[in-house]
Amino acid sequence: MNKLSVRDLDVKGKRILIRTDFNVPLDKKGEIIDIIRITSSIPTIKNVIDRGGRAILISHLGRAKGEVIEGLRMNKVAEKLEVALGKKIKKLNDCIGTSVEMSVAGMKDGDVILLENVRFYNEEEDNDPEFAQKLAKLCDYYVNDAFSVSHRAHASVVGVTKFVSKAAAGLLMEKEIKYLGQAVQNPKRPFLVILGGSKVSDKIEIFKHLLHKVDTFLIGGGMAYTFLKSQGILTGDSLVEKDKLDVANEILENVKKNHSKIILPVDHIIADEFSKTANSRVQDEKSIPDGWRGMDIGPKTIELFKKEIEKANTILWNGPVGVYELPQFKNGTIALAKLLAESKATTIIGGGDSAAAIHDSNVEDKITHISTGGGASLEFLEGKSLPGIEALSDIEGRKIFIAGNWKMNTLQKDARILINGIKEKTDGFKNIDIAFIPPYTHLFLMQDILKDSNIKFGAQNMYFEEKGAYTGEISPLMLKDLGCTYVIIGHSERRKYFNENDELLNKKIKSALKHGLFPIYCVGETQEERDKNLHQKVVEKQLINGLTGITSDEIKKITIAYEPVWAIGTGKNATPEQAEEMHKFIRNRISVIYDEEISSNVRIQYGGSVTSENVADILKQENIDGALVGGASLKIDTFSDLLKIANNL
Ligand code: 13P
Repeated sequence: MNKLSVRDLDVKGKRILIRTDFNVPLDKKGEIIDIIRITSSIPTIKNVIDRGGRAILISHLGRAKGEVIEGLRMNKVAEKLEVALGKKIKKLNDCIGTSVEMSVAGMKDGDVILLENVRFYNEEEDNDPEFAQKLAKLCDYYVNDAFSVSHRAHASVVGVTKFVSKAAAGLLMEKEIKYLGQAVQNPKRPFLVILGGSKVSDKIEIFKHLLHKVDTFLIGGGMAYTFLKSQGILTGDSLVEKDKLDVANEILENVKKNHSKIILPVDHIIADEFSKTANSRVQDEKSIPDGWRGMDIGPKTIELFKKEIEKANTILWNGPVGVYELPQFKNGTIALAKLLAESKATTIIGGGDSAAAIHDSNVEDKITHISTGGGASLEFLEGKSLPGIEALSDIEGRKIFIAGNWKMNTLQKDARILINGIKEKTDGFKNIDIAFIPPYTHLFLMQDILKDSNIKFGAQNMYFEEKGAYTGEISPLMLKDLGCTYVIIGHSERRKYFNENDELLNKKIKSALKHGLFPIYCVGETQEERDKNLHQKVVEKQLINGLTGITSDEIKKITIAYEPVWAIGTGKNATPEQAEEMHKFIRNRISVIYDEEISSNVRIQYGGSVTSENVADILKQENIDGALVGGASLKIDTFSDLLKIANNL
């Protein structure tokens, strides 16, 4: 996902407006029937308040159509929310205006306010800019956690984002995008898609969008009869979309051309009328006689579907395979729910009756993801962009990061001149991140001279323990205490002269992260290893070992530095193409260990004889995000020239 996440927001002391979907089902007396939408929003609310943010929640409930309807106030939601959250919240009687602003102004860190039903104002559905601005006025940042309304361009979903400095996705929203978006776009094969529901016309766009990605389609529900009829098979009185027979035929042809499979029911449960008291029986073949209609898939079809489910590694299911609202015809759908629960695959449910079947079978916890969005999930699966997601702030791209590794060079007086000189010459460089990595002995000086500067600094090494009898070592706590941001881990000179191995480096990385330091983890091969064509294998091993146990949140804090040992201090730098080839390889490996989105955000520096002459060509490569500079960082002019070139790129 290239959108900002609530996790990226610094929420401490800030007012965060969270658009939730509290549109819960109500019974005739106005009591809440199901609280899943309330409980699904808890992780995002907790994420904000547990970090000292102030959560202001806004949602719609029912179809208020611009009028205040007593039965649609958020009071009952507030009661359930308090229980689910285990915390007192304040429910207000409006969602904009002076009294709301005053209540928000009185909030303390960790407080939660629930605003009144936003659809009491027509301006919400009209996406009225003035109204959106009034909502935005309540907060510092906005978070959208209501995936299920994100296909609507309403004021609390889209308009408000225009008037806030940051608009981020909530955790539920992220989960929906992860499974309905990434898992479906980049599935682990075989990829099986089960489509049901009454009409082919509702699913045409899904077929079109997913056709090239899917290995097998299983078709059930009313739409199966249109497909069967399009093949000349008798369907009796079953529901058939006569005007979609050509489309159904075309889909079958395209699936064949694409070398994927589509499996239609081979037997049915049929009934003599569409009612719960109808006579019904198993029809043991594809065709259905006149006077009878198909109502559910039959036992042979369930067996056939079972075989495909067992083979799949990713399964997406949307729509019931029988008439789910009539109890005697829900067996096929329930059987599928159970089969999916037993499957080893990543299982994704696209909402509606298929989700109900999962709940009714009590297997929610055995399913990877059950989407909370009905219309929104359909549009997403059709490949459409949802206005509520589009409106969120984009993540900044990978900013160039240049670090000067001074190694074991400079005495205090040289260090002072060097820091001051470069600081002065690079004042106002906004396009790059800069760091000095001096010997430990100059860290105190750095802390003093760089206190008001954008230039950060760090250490060349650390031990993984916090303190104790480790003579000669420096701990992460000491580095933090001196104001360090970064620490280099696993420089090839430490691997070579001090026998540091991947296992030790992995401990150091974990310890650095634990104490809030950003590791720069060095990898790279020797000349001999490159000559033997082992360079990728060597780097892959260093990556896998060094990153063992590092979570996907932690990897975002690590910079990888590719430093081919043969290019360090030798004046013999890798060509930009050689460097790019390895950087691409590294990014690819990270995407295998984590995922593509994470790997596309990880910064990878190049190091090895980088100078002001070659830095531009190196940084122009797609996967190179900066440089770890040795020798050339020790002279004011050379390093500031190099930084200037990088800043101007
Ligand atoms: P040189 O730039 O001197 O080759 O050193 C590279 C390096 O090892 C940086 O960490």
